Amino acid sequence: MTRPHRPHLEPADDLTRAADVDISALLAPLIQQRCESPIVRPSIATDVAKLIDQSYPLGGDSLEQLVAQISDANRQYPRRNTHPGFFGWIAPSGLPSDPLAHAMVSVLNENLGGYWASPVGTTIEKTVIRWLADLVNFPAQSEGIFLSGGSMANMSGIASALAKRFGPEYRKKGLAAFSQSAKPVIICSQAAHFSIRRAAVMLGVGTDNIIPVDTDAEFRMRIDKLEEAIAENSNVVCVAATAGTTNTGAIDPLDDIAQLCATHNIWLHVDAAYGGGGLMSEQLRPRYRGIEKADSVTMDMHKWFYQSLGGSLLLYRDASSARQLFFENSDYLRASEEDTPEQYRFYDLAPELSRRFRALPFYMSLRCYGMETLGRNALHNVQCAEYLAELIRSEDDLELVVAPQLSILCYRFRPDGLDDDSIDHLNTAIRDQIQLEGDYLMSATQVQGRPVLRVCIMNHATRAEHIEGLLASVLRIGREKIQA
Ligand SMILES: Cc1ncc(COP(=O)(O)O)c(C=O)c1O
Repeated sequence: MTRPHRPHLEPADDLTRAADVDISALLAPLIQQRCESPIVRPSIATDVAKLIDQSYPLGGDSLEQLVAQISDANRQYPRRNTHPGFFGWIAPSGLPSDPLAHAMVSVLNENLGGYWASPVGTTIEKTVIRWLADLVNFPAQSEGIFLSGGSMANMSGIASALAKRFGPEYRKKGLAAFSQSAKPVIICSQAAHFSIRRAAVMLGVGTDNIIPVDTDAEFRMRIDKLEEAIAENSNVVCVAATAGTTNTGAIDPLDDIAQLCATHNIWLHVDAAYGGGGLMSEQLRPRYRGIEKADSVTMDMHKWFYQSLGGSLLLYRDASSARQLFFENSDYLRASEEDTPEQYRFYDLAPELSRRFRALPFYMSLRCYGMETLGRNALHNVQCAEYLAELIRSEDDLELVVAPQLSILCYRFRPDGLDDDSIDHLNTAIRDQIQLEGDYLMSATQVQGRPVLRVCIMNHATRAEHIEGLLASVLRIGREKIQA
């Protein structure tokens, strides 16, 4: 047999050369910008587009040029979740250890599918999962998986609840087979995050079959209404409680909910995507009493655990339903019968197969700063929110609409003599002006149908002076506007 002649093969040599740059020198100015004002600057998409080279990429730009281009664009049109005056939505501040840790994730580039694909990564991910399961007080045999975010974690937890409710046949026959006698429903409070609704959509349950339970005066799920909902629905897939609602930071009465779920043999999923970080603080932990009785828990690392985007941990008290649902045996990834640590597969626990090494940044920050230091900071955030609430209560022109249960509160500028509609407009105008001035940012939301100023304190660099500065600006702008 004649050996084939080697054709003219032209490898792309550029791709095999190491990038010849000093990464930390390039990142330094970006890191320095993290706390600079303005937090955000109004922008028009076409103006931003002019700053980004969108011509066909022929190559030839140096990495230095590219960093300069992107940091310049970002300096002109920033959105700095990292700024200590950023009090909007639920956005992570990121930790100083993150840039290095995320660079390591890229360099290692392992796929966290399971032990065989990443022995060290799997060991680290399992270690972090154990630390966090201990915070929740979950049993030793509990398991978990890092996913892209809270939406994915909530959906995977609820998918496992379906598998538990309907057994092995569910995977084969689908939901329709179990909907004939009574519609499968998911119960949550009216204040639950919309990712629960989206899970219902994606899992084929449908939004009509979400039962939204009324909340009490503190926006927590009402137990009497939950009892009614359970009594009225014979096919309950799960109760999705929240530990730290998005709007007001309310923690549902988890212990009472868990007792009801146990009595009726219903899966309890706790969405602690935001609130989970508070568990790091020994002083805050009692507020979550009952979370240890959940079947699954979502905790976002990229929220109150201070990690840069992105990653969420989904914990299972008992992962057997998840395994029953997600287990696949393909020719190219033949699963071994052996149940040994070396055969461990994360991809049996959720829909994601290829996964980034999301646990590494958190492992590094926990080893570097310690769980107690991060927990002390979560407590500090809560104390800042409580201090802000006290300042609001002491001002005649301000009304505290929702007191903080964690690190979120809502209030209004409400001087005497103005009707509700004028107050609504005034508060919206104050929020916009604060944003324009650039040192602080609050997000908008509605409480009982009225716009409020919402503050979420989740940054490790926020200090009392930022809280005082925010309120001084609100009062100044509010008073200027009524005089104008
Ligand atoms: C309580 C709660 N659950 C779930 C989510 C969704 O998380 P993610 O944005 O990571 O998908 C959020 C987002 O803010 C949230 O506040």
